[in-house]
Amino acid sequence: MEPLEVLRHIVVFIHLIGFAILFGAWAVEVYNKRVHVTPLMNIGLLIAAVAGLALAAPWGISYDLNYAKIGVKLVVLLIIGAFIGIGLARQRKGGACPPAIFWGIGILTLLNAGLAVIWR
Ligand code: HEM
Repeated sequence: MEPLEVLRHIVVFIHLIGFAILFGAWAVEVYNKRVHVTPLMNIGLLIAAVAGLALAAPWGISYDLNYAKIGVKLVVLLIIGAFIGIGLARQRKGGACPPAIFWGIGILTLLNAGLAVIWR
């Protein structure tokens, strides 16, 4: 395997760690019946975003990237980021996170993972 291919796979691995942190942080809140946004979700999103942007360039591969898919994933990621920001701001002001915002974060995270593996 080419060194660049190995590096790309490592970046995919980091991308998946970001996804795991984001979705895991959200799943913990669901399990504990809390409609609550946590800063760990932001950390996971940031890791997934940085690694995802690095993967959006065609290096270490011998096939064409699906740029339509990558564009949609980027838009979805920005919406998730806005939702986390809205939830954290509400909570900081002593209010509750709107349920639509909380559920939206988990559903849109799964949507992006689903797009990643199903839309080839
Ligand atoms: C919450 C946000 C995101 C989630 C949950 C997510 C999830 C995933 C998953 C599960 C994979 C592995 C699928 C596979 O290897 O076939 C993947 C790969 C990938 N993601 Fe994401 N992603 C997110 C955001 C982004 C963003 C913002 C970008 C770029 C702008 C991006 C670009 C990519 C690329 C290019 C790959 C393919 C790697 C390759 O085949 O070399 N992702 N993503």
